[in-house]
Amino acid sequence: MTAPTFDLVIAANRLPVDKEVAEDGSVEWRRSPGGLVTAMESVMRGREAAWIGWSGDAGDPPEPFEENGMYLVPIGLTEDEVTNYYEGYSNDTLWPLYHDVIVPATFRRRWRSSYERINQRFAEAVSEVAAQGATVWLHDYQLQRVPALLRAIRPDLRIGWFNHIPFPPVEIFMQLPGRETLLEGLLGADFLGFQVRADAANFREACRRLLHSTVKGEVVTAPDGRRVRAAAVPISIDVEELRALATSPETLQRAKEIRAEMGDPEVLLLGVDRLDYTKGIRHRLKAYGELLADGRLDPHKTRLVQIATPSRERLQAYRVLRGQIEQTVGRINGDHADFEDTPVLYMRRSFPKEEMAAIYAAADVALVTPLRDGMNLVAKEFVTCARDDAALVLSEFAGAAGELKRAYLCNPHDVDRLKQTITAAISAPIDERRKRMRAMRRAVLSNDVHHWAEAFLASLQAAPELPAGETDR
Ligand code: ADP
Ligand code: F6P
Repeated sequence: MTAPTFDLVIAANRLPVDKEVAEDGSVEWRRSPGGLVTAMESVMRGREAAWIGWSGDAGDPPEPFEENGMYLVPIGLTEDEVTNYYEGYSNDTLWPLYHDVIVPATFRRRWRSSYERINQRFAEAVSEVAAQGATVWLHDYQLQRVPALLRAIRPDLRIGWFNHIPFPPVEIFMQLPGRETLLEGLLGADFLGFQVRADAANFREACRRLLHSTVKGEVVTAPDGRRVRAAAVPISIDVEELRALATSPETLQRAKEIRAEMGDPEVLLLGVDRLDYTKGIRHRLKAYGELLADGRLDPHKTRLVQIATPSRERLQAYRVLRGQIEQTVGRINGDHADFEDTPVLYMRRSFPKEEMAAIYAAADVALVTPLRDGMNLVAKEFVTCARDDAALVLSEFAGAAGELKRAYLCNPHDVDRLKQTITAAISAPIDERRKRMRAMRRAVLSNDVHHWAEAFLASLQAAPELPAGETDR
């Protein structure tokens, strides 16, 4: 039977749902973790499209299937390919390199060849379901070779790629063995989207320095002479939907219950992250532990809820981090807890959307303190759901800081300043917190996820020119 074809094809490393096999062998599909799926889920609702991605499980891929009106095409990865392409090259080479080398990047030649093979597999899978002249939207650092590989088999397609993570300065990117191959891979696209302008500029500079490409404004000339636009299109969330959920009577009631279940603390601090070394959880806990030890926060009146969802658990750096975090949580609670009060509530569970909205609405201060982050949707979700008098402590190294300028901005590497920023946010006059929150809410409202998707697709259609109505920057 021939596969159906689509005018819009999405490809990302993962499908929006992950396959989970229960002990009795039954298969369940669960929402995949991370910001990419959060954003694309609401954008794709109601659009007729195919989504190509890995099912999250090693072995033969399941047959294509339909979910929420989308045609999902699972890509199979063997155990070795999971090790080499996903855990190795994607998450132990590119991930640390693209996040300012917070941990050292590892370079292995066999990982690179696996990445190339899997990118070829994605390109072929896209080609099979893409209608003549279709629009193809590729996502993220795991698929940087796909644009060129796909163009080689399907020159009729309009190809766009969006990077959900930072793109590093050329001085760091240069460390990557075979770095030119990735740039050439990306230049197979018509339009390349980045989270912030500095990322797009870093990419163009890498092309100029390493490929000797001509760069004019936002347009890079590819080795085959095509002109490719590389520009910022900051990602966002479904503000209207989330705001409606967060302000519903049920959510507000649940938010009250959450506080009551914790003994109605005077100050409720909140962290929500994938358990990743980029997120700065260790620095945050250190600052909080010291504030309790210094007596600047009262362990009987303060709670920190730290939600840290497991991620990439077979990688050494993630296992080490988990150990450090759990030890620190244990130490803080060991030093300060009594029969009534536990200063850190640490949870690894995944929560449904309704409960997440209630947790955000319950908090007084969110601590979003990544050491480096492409955007950080948690910051935007908090601003959307929080009470007007709540406060956001936000790292200068999160892409979101470019839009949420009225957050309590901090450098998470500087633990003393981080402590000062946390106490400033807690003790700020209510009027000041309200003003800041209102300004941040306006910023989030002016660029929601639908605006993001439309801006990306319009740029892709118009590339290398600017879409109608957009002026040069
Ligand atoms: P990343 O893409 O690096 O994981 P983001 O902050 O951009 O980081 O996106 C994380 C997404 O995952 C957000 O939409 C957030 O609400 C969601 N999320 C994080 N932790 C949980 C959890 N424990 N349960 C449910 N959703 C979660
Ligand atoms: O954008 C960052 C990212 O790698 C996404 O590709 C993904 O949504 C998320 O983080 C979770 O990562 P993983 O798919 O490796 O669990």
